[in-house]
Amino acid sequence: MTDSASSLHRKRPAPPRPGLPESELDAMAEFLNRYMGLSINRGELGRAVSEAMSEASIEDLGHYLTLVQGRGEPLERLVDRVTVRETYFFRLRQQFDFIREQIIPACMSGSLPGHVLRTWSAGCASGEEVFSLAILFEEAGLSRYHVLGTDISPEALSSARQGRFPRWSMRGNPPAMVERFFRDTGAGYTIAPELSRNVAFRRLNLVEDTYPSAENGTYGLDLILCRNVLIYLDGRTAEKIMDRLYEALAPGGWLITAPVDPAPTTGRWESVRGEYAALYRKPLARHKAIRRAAERSHSRAIGTVSAKPAEIPRSTRAKNAFDEKEYAKAIALCLGLEREATTAILKIKAIANLHGAAEAELAAQEMLAIHPYVPELRFLEAIMLLALNQNERATVVLRQALFIDPELAVVHFTLGSALAAEGYKAPAQRAYERAIKLLKRMSPNEIVPLSDSTALSLLESAEHALEHLKHRVAP
Ligand SMILES: C[S@@+](CC[C@H](N)C(=O)[O-])C[C@H]1O[C@@H](n2cnc3c(N)ncnc32)[C@H](O)[C@@H]1O
Repeated sequence: MTDSASSLHRKRPAPPRPGLPESELDAMAEFLNRYMGLSINRGELGRAVSEAMSEASIEDLGHYLTLVQGRGEPLERLVDRVTVRETYFFRLRQQFDFIREQIIPACMSGSLPGHVLRTWSAGCASGEEVFSLAILFEEAGLSRYHVLGTDISPEALSSARQGRFPRWSMRGNPPAMVERFFRDTGAGYTIAPELSRNVAFRRLNLVEDTYPSAENGTYGLDLILCRNVLIYLDGRTAEKIMDRLYEALAPGGWLITAPVDPAPTTGRWESVRGEYAALYRKPLARHKAIRRAAERSHSRAIGTVSAKPAEIPRSTRAKNAFDEKEYAKAIALCLGLEREATTAILKIKAIANLHGAAEAELAAQEMLAIHPYVPELRFLEAIMLLALNQNERATVVLRQALFIDPELAVVHFTLGSALAAEGYKAPAQRAYERAIKLLKRMSPNEIVPLSDSTALSLLESAEHALEHLKHRVAP
């Protein structure tokens, strides 16, 4: 999905339909796990299933389950709903810098004349990653390259093939690049025709046994991007997929995942892991000695973030590092643990401290794709947006947080401040009043959830802000 960070920004999530039979929901979860490796919590699955059943005017979950298990359109529609398709151009720019600076020269220098650089974006969603690669290769002056984009979602692929993108997909990208490779249609952007010449899209379920294969272009690859896909799958499936991707690479080829994705546990890869790096290389030569060296370098590379000391959980070490203001260390320790919402939040806070609000806001978006219903994450994103003077967007995100949990006094208070700053006096007043009402229900010394303040001190601030607002003359 390309627009506004996720579907949540466009449509409200339907509340889970009350009374969906647990056993059938379990059967649905198990079927989706077998079909596509999906690991999804019951709340999110319940919501997606409720929406799909309403859309198809089906009341009975058992009947719907049978339809989905029969594959075809009902299954495709459900897949479209359960997949997170958040993506944008040059997402995790540091990884694209690495491709430009290291991978392209390495692949081209060791190759025979006329070598076609062969790349694959596995789980490409609406195509931004595919065209980012094409842009990179055009900028590097390569004339012979190929980018394959595959995904399980028919809706995502149909959007990718159209080559039309909303403005939001371009966030954070330099205007000169946008001008060079896109046509501005007013509503968004259309990709320049020359970028489609070396690009192909194909449906491929990464769980199925259809790759590597020369027939569908998934063999002998120089580079595979499989980013922000494995995080949504169960660990064993993710591991099997990485094994298969290994076989799909040419010797010396690279696999890039996202830092939030699980790392391969087998040591046959040469790996580079860092804050933005989840880069794995299939060794050029596969003699035993070289493999052993790769295994050693693998454990060295990830050892700092995975192994020791065994008795203290990594999430606790991350928290300790954060408390000691060792933010880089905290970020490294959070890597791969982002499926725990508390660790995801800690990581964003550490990024904010180390790199500032802009980076942290991007990180918050990444984490929201994994945890769409955690109000603290939305609140954190809103705080970053406010720091970046993006008040309008912050108010949208604050309202989303309140949609998930309407009882968060500090969010109402912050919404009041953002609305007041934008000159929306009446809505700001309502937000402050709501905060005051909630705070009055608390005991004065209680710490307000999602804040460091006591109820009394936030109450005083809200009352003061409200008073100030009432006396403010409209502009
Ligand atoms: C969050 S998007 C990632 C897009 C892009 N790679 C990026 O990082 O911006 C995840 C994509 O993985 C796809 N996906 C999930 N499970 C899959 C599977 N079993 N096979 C193929 N694609 C899958 C989803 O349809 C979705 O488009």
